[in-house]
Amino acid sequence: MKACMVTPGDPSTAAVEEIGEPPETDGAILVEGMLVGICGTDVEITEKGYGVPPPGHKRLVLFHESLGRVLEAPATASVKAGDLVVGIVRRPDPVPCACCAAGEWDFCRNGQYTERGIKAHDGYGSQRWRVDEQFAVPVPAELGDLGVLTEPASVVAKAWDQIERIGARACFAPEHVLVTGAGPIGLLAALMGRQRGLEVTVLDRVTDGLKPELVRELGADYHSGALDGLTCRPDIVIECTGVGQLVFDLLTRTAPNAITCLAGISSGTRTLETAADAVNKSMVLDNDVVFGSVNANRRHYDAAVAALARADHAWLAQLVTRRVPMGEWPKALERGSDDVKVVVDLQAG
Ligand code: BGC
Repeated sequence: MKACMVTPGDPSTAAVEEIGEPPETDGAILVEGMLVGICGTDVEITEKGYGVPPPGHKRLVLFHESLGRVLEAPATASVKAGDLVVGIVRRPDPVPCACCAAGEWDFCRNGQYTERGIKAHDGYGSQRWRVDEQFAVPVPAELGDLGVLTEPASVVAKAWDQIERIGARACFAPEHVLVTGAGPIGLLAALMGRQRGLEVTVLDRVTDGLKPELVRELGADYHSGALDGLTCRPDIVIECTGVGQLVFDLLTRTAPNAITCLAGISSGTRTLETAADAVNKSMVLDNDVVFGSVNANRRHYDAAVAALARADHAWLAQLVTRRVPMGEWPKALERGSDDVKVVVDLQAG
């Protein structure tokens, strides 16, 4: 079968290759790959060498945002042939640590977890893949291709889950959410904020085009200027850019008791001068919380599917701005200015 393969850190090696059928050790459910979604992590793996191939291999089957159709499943499984399914990214560490043992592999304590298409485990960028039932998330047929948004939505569902758990520390009556970054994660974070009945502002650098339009269609505000121009003091911030300067600038601008979730992975190594005392003072006097959030566990995938199913499907469809056939997958890593989510079609040569 064909697979999208790369030697991490060497973009010239990105290619479609023939490889053997998926190993049975990956699980009893055999899936026909339909789509994979591209995210910044795939670019980091290909260009900067983030990620690790499986032990003993130099090449990695790329991609962790999946959608496929079940070809074969054991009679006892909760999915059957023909069902749409998404594979979970992370696998618990083999020890396992206390968190992995509790099914919260997104909180793995010893770093020995693996991630499909990222860390020591081949991904979902192949014509067929296998998965164990506990890592196979059923997607309702009505979502169709939009099911490829499940993994990024799971990352956002986890962020919201953590925000709400942290909010439960005391009285929690959020009104306003600020989302920084109008990429797929930011837009899905805004969607889930609106689904909770909150006022949402999305901040991004672009001034016009699809992103501001998508934000307005959600009934949220779009802001493209400097932070100083923001009129609201957010109760919740979901930071999706990974830009360090912006992160620190946000911390003194939040409402009392604010919860700031850092969900953007920085790709640079910039240093900056910070008004550290002012940040500290504002955080202490306002009971502020800032926390990081990565990955997602089973609960979050299920919440993600529910949020996508409940969303306006025509709105979701606009998030998928480009579809690249498998044979040309390296082109999917190039970023167009109006690209939101680019997908690779594993069924088109
Ligand atoms: C993925 C997460 C993963 C993280 C770090 C993100 O792009 O969505 O599942 O944990 O990268 O590898």
